[in-house]
Amino acid sequence: PARSLSLTVNGQSHLLDLAPDTPLLTVLRNDLELNGPKFGCGLGACGACAVLVDDRAVRACAIPVAAVEGRPVTTLEGLGGPDRLHPVQKALIDEQAAQCGYCLNGMIIAVTSLLRRDPDPDDAAIRSALRHHLCRCGTHVEILNAARRAAG
Ligand code: FES
Repeated sequence: PARSLSLTVNGQSHLLDLAPDTPLLTVLRNDLELNGPKFGCGLGACGACAVLVDDRAVRACAIPVAAVEGRPVTTLEGLGGPDRLHPVQKALIDEQAAQCGYCLNGMIIAVTSLLRRDPDPDDAAIRSALRHHLCRCGTHVEILNAARRAAG
């Protein structure tokens, strides 16, 4: 059954009536119209849906909304946009790392989370942060270069 849940997303508070086990991704996309996080596999496997929770990259399709009550959630929209690029977004553009772009939300969230924990990551740390993020276009080399540039 639905209950009232208090969420903080991109610095804004929301009070929503929701079933507590609703996937966070569903709430972000359908209720809050934040479409930065993408629906890829829906099974926690591809990383397209990642968001930051307490600065950690979390798979929004695989976490119930009740689990983030009272914790700050940041989506891609909270990091940057076309006229205020986040440094990781700029690095991806500079390295021409995008093809279809579907995976990039997750890549940006993962690299941002890494840089918040470790501002000067070595290559192993960058690879580790991105190891469970899939890009079906095969631009992993450019994405790794962009992550190195952002860590720069
Ligand atoms: Fe969430 Fe694939 S859509 S991990």
